[in-house]
Amino acid sequence: MNAVLGVSGSVAAYRAADLARELMRSGFTVRVCLTDSAQEFVSVALFEALTGQPCLIDTFEEPERGRMAHIDWARSADVVVVAPATANTLNKLAAGVGDDMLTTLCLASNKPLVLAPAMNPQMYLHEATQAALALLAERGAEIVEPLEGDVACGENGQGKLASIPAIAAAVLDVVSASSIFKGKRVLITSGPTREPIDDVRYITNRSSGKMGSALARAALRLGAEVTVVAGPQAARLPAGATTVRVETALEMHDATLSLASGFDYIVGAAAVADYHVVNRVSGKMRRSAETVHLELAPNPDIIAAVVAANPSATVIGFAAEPTSDLSVAATKLKRKGLFAIAANDVSQAGQGFDTETNRLDLVFADGRTASSELMSKHQCAKWFWEQILSAKAVR
Ligand code: C5P
Repeated sequence: MNAVLGVSGSVAAYRAADLARELMRSGFTVRVCLTDSAQEFVSVALFEALTGQPCLIDTFEEPERGRMAHIDWARSADVVVVAPATANTLNKLAAGVGDDMLTTLCLASNKPLVLAPAMNPQMYLHEATQAALALLAERGAEIVEPLEGDVACGENGQGKLASIPAIAAAVLDVVSASSIFKGKRVLITSGPTREPIDDVRYITNRSSGKMGSALARAALRLGAEVTVVAGPQAARLPAGATTVRVETALEMHDATLSLASGFDYIVGAAAVADYHVVNRVSGKMRRSAETVHLELAPNPDIIAAVVAANPSATVIGFAAEPTSDLSVAATKLKRKGLFAIAANDVSQAGQGFDTETNRLDLVFADGRTASSELMSKHQCAKWFWEQILSAKAVR
């Protein structure tokens, strides 16, 4: 296993030497990349002697002539760890800036990323740093939170580099998790659907597609091959997933059913419209003094059809309900023949449609349940897959 250890310019840079040793003990070949500021605290010689590998320091100074080291190392790494990660480096990573070897290497990498921030507590609390961390976590980076305590500048607060065993454990977890779904294919429906009234108006719902995107990202992190059939959603879909764009429930039905047979896990996270407009007008419906009646006909139940089309797949639905009563979700689970259903109480603030956070209750076909805390949608997605995998393991 190969790890790239990025060290940026914090007083805690000297502790990266212990981390390099710890990762080597766990079986990693460690290659260190130092930023200019890190070299004010620690030397290339120290890390080269410790790891037996050349350090990367300058984007244009290649240890092997004619090879682009930042691309080579990004390609051969199983994981990239930045410890300590300064506010400056974190903000650059979030913005996609590549103005030194470390940030360029991170841009060239699609491997799991572990970040261990270390900085002055005010810098850690700064909105820019917190926003960068939230964005990086949403994109799938594992953040090993800094600890509270006395920091080098004489202040007290959160900003001390996490313990070396905690960072090493996070690296091992991320690397082993990245192959859990190896060879597995995951299909996710996501976002709202739009049901046209005429050529310029439609009926839709409040779904942002954030939960579907988070589920796709989390499945990619576990090593799955992911396809998302997405309605017109606001949330960005992860670059690593194959995406099929649809607009109406009928289009989502046809796209999902044509794919369904090849997948191991199928998740219905989309908020599919229950009805479509039968008396749809072509062109633009004109305003008049008359009352207008829309005739609505039911849409097919996509996830129920998926269960029939691929009975060997593990199919999981979502149930957005304005209640904490799980019996409604349990009834849907039975009616649709699902492996599990994630009940989402949308009557509570901070969960459900178009929120950054969520809280789910998973109900399984055998009657067991599991409840998450209120957390960010990407943490919730991680929790979701952990629960599904452990439920599969006990069967
Ligand atoms: O029946 P209900 O809409 O409450 O069930 C919600 C679950 O069923 C979600 O997983 C949703 O994606 C799925 N669904 C579907 N096709 C529909 C309606 C809902 O796949 N037409």
